[in-house]
Amino acid sequence: MSKQFDVVVIGAGPAGYVAAIRAAQLGLSSACIESEAYADPKGEVRLGGTCLNVGCIPSKALLRSSELYEEASHGFVMHGISAENVKMDVATMIRRKDNIVAQLTQGIKGLFKKNKVTLLPGYGRFVGREDDVWHLDVSGEIVAARHVIVATGSKPRHLPGIPVDNRLVCDNVGALSFDAVPKRLGVIGAGVIGLELGSVWKRLGSEVTILEAVPEFLAAADDAVSKEAWKIFTRKQGLDIRLNVKIGKVSVGKKGISVEYEDGEEARTLECDRLIVSVGRDPNTGDLGADNVGLKINERGRIEVDAHCATNLPNVWAVGDVVRGPMLAHKGMEEGVMVAELIAGQAGHVNYDAIPSVMYTHPEIAWVGKTEQQLKNEGIEYRAGQIPFMANGRALGQGDTTGFVKVLADAKTDRVLGVHVIGASASELIAEAVVAMEFGASAEDIARICHAHPTLSEAMHEAALAVDKRPLHF
Ligand code: FAD
Ligand code: NAI
Repeated sequence: MSKQFDVVVIGAGPAGYVAAIRAAQLGLSSACIESEAYADPKGEVRLGGTCLNVGCIPSKALLRSSELYEEASHGFVMHGISAENVKMDVATMIRRKDNIVAQLTQGIKGLFKKNKVTLLPGYGRFVGREDDVWHLDVSGEIVAARHVIVATGSKPRHLPGIPVDNRLVCDNVGALSFDAVPKRLGVIGAGVIGLELGSVWKRLGSEVTILEAVPEFLAAADDAVSKEAWKIFTRKQGLDIRLNVKIGKVSVGKKGISVEYEDGEEARTLECDRLIVSVGRDPNTGDLGADNVGLKINERGRIEVDAHCATNLPNVWAVGDVVRGPMLAHKGMEEGVMVAELIAGQAGHVNYDAIPSVMYTHPEIAWVGKTEQQLKNEGIEYRAGQIPFMANGRALGQGDTTGFVKVLADAKTDRVLGVHVIGASASELIAEAVVAMEFGASAEDIARICHAHPTLSEAMHEAALAVDKRPLHF
């Protein structure tokens, strides 16, 4: 008799492990299959998926180390602190990052134990369905499930003719584990990974050149934010970002890497010592046994789902990077919770209009809801309030006044339609805007909330006041 569960989740990334835990909390027998993709040096399966192993968590650990190095090297001076001969030991920085990853991935195992989720180590594939029960092959063992949640996540997209060895030519995996600061770092793709990891190595001393295919910089962000970010990243921080280029041949030789590319009509070559390829991610659906059961996958490789993450098959759900929408850990976690609650007969729901986006560059960039250009394109009348951190006492005290908060509200109802922040702690500040949008609050509602003084959050307060043209401190 094969093992049987109410819910079996395939994939233990943030979408999958959260789904498995929530299902168990709701009294369902719950199991989670995870492959050896991120196995530890002893070969033990590691949970947490891309996010914990080679994504969100390790990248933020390195960002922090590089920020401290930058502060010590250049930021202390204005406080009257001198720090000479500041040095970065890359091996220690990487070890710290690895320890954080180990701690957190191990922590998920603890959460599985606490919540009575059965871990099924192995590679999961659909086999078929009999008597309303799905059969999955887990590396040779058949497991039965009333409901299956596919949470197999995504992998880095590579470009044809550019072989990634994760030593010299790297995707996110290798780029998080360089053994030294490259003198010249090339990056293909000025998206989130390119800018976050480009910033890490730039701060540590690399000359960083980023080659981007499209002519716009950060096209998904509000125009005011992308303009400000462009100024800061290129002029102040010295990232060399070249837009509208077409990548050609990449060759790896003894003296380094040559990236041929076209910049308008001009043929150019970028010489670098390491290259990061960060041009997006592709869903992991190739080897799922989808054909065995007729699971619908679209032309982009993503599993087709409805607003509740139900697939075309009965009792088969899919969540996280493997389905439509932004490839973000928190979006996947929300979907995991929703699906587990729906399976348990509750009213699960995800508000896709209130999912925040954050880039952990310095300054950070965070937003939720519509951009000003989207509102214009959709013909929605709006009012905008924008406050620079330069007018915020806490920002001045911290010596970090770059950026602003911008609130966009419906011209008639005053309901908040979008909030955009570029500045220190934008990732934390955006939470207030998400709450506002989730509860359909108006700019006036934010304006009437008492914000502690002196805090960066007062800039949110002032921006909400500015929507009604009555900021108090600007
Ligand atoms: P994944 O995390 O990819 O997990 C899927 C899991 O399924 C993996 O463990 C995989 O091994 C396993 N699997 C796949 N197929 C099978 C199978 N057939 N059988 C068994 N197991 C299988 N997002 C944010 O929100 N904030 C950030 O700051 C952020 N930073 C990032 C930084 C980097 C460098 C990268 C690469 C990504 C970052 N992301 C960030 C994105 C985030 O990591 C993903 O959105 C998130 O991990 C997706 O979760 P998931 O559970 O859908 O998939
Ligand atoms: P991305 O989609 O953010 O950016 C990819 C960039 O590469 C785009 O600007 C694109 O125009 C460009 N590009 C594509 N093909 C190209 C080519 N041939 N030549 C030059 N440029 C090309 O993808 P990225 O940075 O790889 O990150 C993947 C995903 O991981 C993100 O979309 C995001 O979902 C997630 N992520 C989230 C983070 C966060 O939330 N802070 C941090 C890092 C990753």
